[in-house]
Amino acid sequence: MTADLFPDTLAARENLQPGAMLLRAFALDEAPALLAGVAGVIAMAPFRQMQTPGGQTMSVAMSSCGERGWVSDRRGYRYSPTDPATGAPWPAMPARLADLARRAAAEAGFPGFAPDACLINRYLPGCRMGLHQDRDEADLSQPIVSVSLGLPATFLFGGPTRGGRPLRLPLVHGDVVVWGGPARLHFHGVAPLAAGEHPATGGCRINLTFRRAT
Ligand code: SIN
Ligand code: FE2
Repeated sequence: MTADLFPDTLAARENLQPGAMLLRAFALDEAPALLAGVAGVIAMAPFRQMQTPGGQTMSVAMSSCGERGWVSDRRGYRYSPTDPATGAPWPAMPARLADLARRAAAEAGFPGFAPDACLINRYLPGCRMGLHQDRDEADLSQPIVSVSLGLPATFLFGGPTRGGRPLRLPLVHGDVVVWGGPARLHFHGVAPLAAGEHPATGGCRINLTFRRAT
């Protein structure tokens, strides 16, 4: 038998935990189109560093597109139909972004995913995201789809509690992680980003996380 007998998509699939799957290079071909979509969103809703409810400034800069955007301030974490920086609705989610998320979710065993929120995270060198759960969404039967673009990062993927040692997964440009079902509320985060230069994004990493917020 040769590797040619196996389609790339299957060969590149890695089960992390029940409900959690890494799809290596799933978004690689479409990365330029995804980044063009992101640039259009950012022109209307620029990256900004938000405050945590505890009053800290997050190192990662964020924006959103879709019917809802994720926001954080002294009042807490939530989804909002409008961008607090402008008061305007978030930019529409580009169809190619929503379509990629839907296909990745289906590939990971979650058919029918229809995201209404896409959080866009920009990591510069040194930016990190502490271990957290994604739990502000109304329907936890829907997965999270996370797309990595640009500089590589170490993704931390743990269990249902903060304790224990998370998996440390190197993620590169085009990789997609999907988690749902029994892994939906698992803790995850990103280790401090190493400096570098990537042909697609320059000196940063862009992460897209697609959610069904409502
Ligand atoms: C997140 O949990 O919102 C971001 C994950 C990542 O940047 O890979
Ligand atoms: Fe998250």
